[in-house]
Amino acid sequence: MGLRLAIALGVCTAMMGHFGLACYAADIPTPPKASAYAPAADLVKAVDDYISRIGETLESQDDFAEFQARVVKDAETIAVLALVLGLHDEKNPYQAAAPALIKAARELSAAAAKDYASAKTAFAALEAAKSSSGDASTLKWEKVASLKELMQQVPLVNSRLKRNMRRFERQADAIAVDAAVIAAISQASMANLDETNQPNQAEKWFTFCADSRDAAAAINKAAKAKNQADAEKALAAMTKSCDDCHAVFHPEAIGKTDVE
Ligand code: HEC
Repeated sequence: MGLRLAIALGVCTAMMGHFGLACYAADIPTPPKASAYAPAADLVKAVDDYISRIGETLESQDDFAEFQARVVKDAETIAVLALVLGLHDEKNPYQAAAPALIKAARELSAAAAKDYASAKTAFAALEAAKSSSGDASTLKWEKVASLKELMQQVPLVNSRLKRNMRRFERQADAIAVDAAVIAAISQASMANLDETNQPNQAEKWFTFCADSRDAAAAINKAAKAKNQADAEKALAAMTKSCDDCHAVFHPEAIGKTDVE
């Protein structure tokens, strides 16, 4: 065992020497253009929807008390959507605001976990951040949200998406938006490898994130093309991609892909 450890450490040290990184740290693979999996217009709509839902919740202290956990999740989700919009290949109204939006969304998440007054103040700052102008070229793929919060959000988004599937024609736009959100979360989660139970399995993690992203992207495209059969197929593939990843990284969540 002593020898094995010494060898393992030797490999680690050699790699650190080569790459200047901890032994399992791995670079996030270059993603496809964001327009290929999450059209900017859909993400902008989603940001606006999450912001207005938080705004409504914060109108009353009772609602806040009831939906506090949702405010935290929504704020974390906004941070991810803003990052993808900042790095997006399509010009969009939140591109320049993205750095400030990410910061304000993170602050809102922390404030909402505390109390109503802090959440109100942080929410006003998030509203103001929407029209700020910063430099999106400073952004890179890095962790802007907690994996745990994101993983509590995706089954909710997925459940609404599935519900809307039953009224496909009428809800195609809403389906496209929710699919784009899941695609954006899947892509952004690549940066959360360190929060998993196996941070040394970078290749697998990145592959599962990409599979989930691409399956969600296919739902988005099918919804836009008003092709229900393709959307159903892509939804099945996405649900499978959730559980393929859980089988390796979080068996406790297998089968918990929606809340119905
Ligand atoms: C790339 C891997 C991966 C993919 C893809 C993935 N998950 Fe997860 N999921 C995880 C990990 C890791 C956790 C544990 C997170 C934690 O607790 O820190 C998790 C946790 C969960 C949980 C439990 C959350 C809780 O703590 O209450 C649910 C529910 C869940 N995921 C749903 C989904 C759904 C729905 C999808 C597909 C739309 C999905 N996941 C896609 C890796 C993944």
